[in-house]
Amino acid sequence: MRLDKYLCEAGLGTRSQVKKLLKSGAVTVNGQTAVRPEQKIKENDRVAVSGRELSVSKMEYWMLNKPAGCVSATEDSRFQTVLDFLPEGARRDLFPAGRLDRDTEGLLLLTNDGKLAHFLLSPKRHVDKVYYARIRGRVTEEHVRLFEEGLDIGDEKRTLPARLVILKSTATDASREDAEEAEDRTSEIQVTLREGRYHQVKRMFEAVGCEVAYLKRLSMGSLKLDESLSPGECRLLTEEELARLKEETGC
Ligand code: URA
Repeated sequence: MRLDKYLCEAGLGTRSQVKKLLKSGAVTVNGQTAVRPEQKIKENDRVAVSGRELSVSKMEYWMLNKPAGCVSATEDSRFQTVLDFLPEGARRDLFPAGRLDRDTEGLLLLTNDGKLAHFLLSPKRHVDKVYYARIRGRVTEEHVRLFEEGLDIGDEKRTLPARLVILKSTATDASREDAEEAEDRTSEIQVTLREGRYHQVKRMFEAVGCEVAYLKRLSMGSLKLDESLSPGECRLLTEEELARLKEETGC
């Protein structure tokens, strides 16, 4: 990595601020004054500013409460991306570990750790992903059973069994209402998937004749959305969160 990029990522300022710092002679690499921004920094090089050695963690892990309206990509010509919600000092090489639809909110991990992202998302690993959703229509125990069996959502293979929990439904009131009115109602559910196919939650509900009105991811494996984060806010993972995630993915 270039020295100026390294210094930026260590939080020492913008490229132009870092260039001034280099010119001032305050930066050393392995004890030698370094003034050239393009100097290459290798794995074990020791970089210091005014005698203080920098420690640049190569990996960074951010939890974002993704708001609706932005895309889970690193760049997009039309919409804000999830990277737009990171603070100035965050590394420039981060990417979202997995995708949430533009209208989906909730937990998204932004990292540059490709290995961890791969393990979290690998269809072979079956890491649980938990979603909260509001559904147009009445979700019933029959739907719970169908989700548990796995559904044909038009892919080559049926979905793996998914755990559907009804949090609030018109089911209990249905006997008191005419059926049509009950269909107009919204149910609240929590669903746990062990895979992450394209639009999977929406397509599973579509397969049983319902429609997702609102969707939010609550957790991925042991990593739970910090509910103190408002949509659009993010924070670094704590050491414990990261350690647990690494333990369960074997990374
Ligand atoms: N399932 C969906 O349908 N959409 C998402 O964003 C995530 C899971």
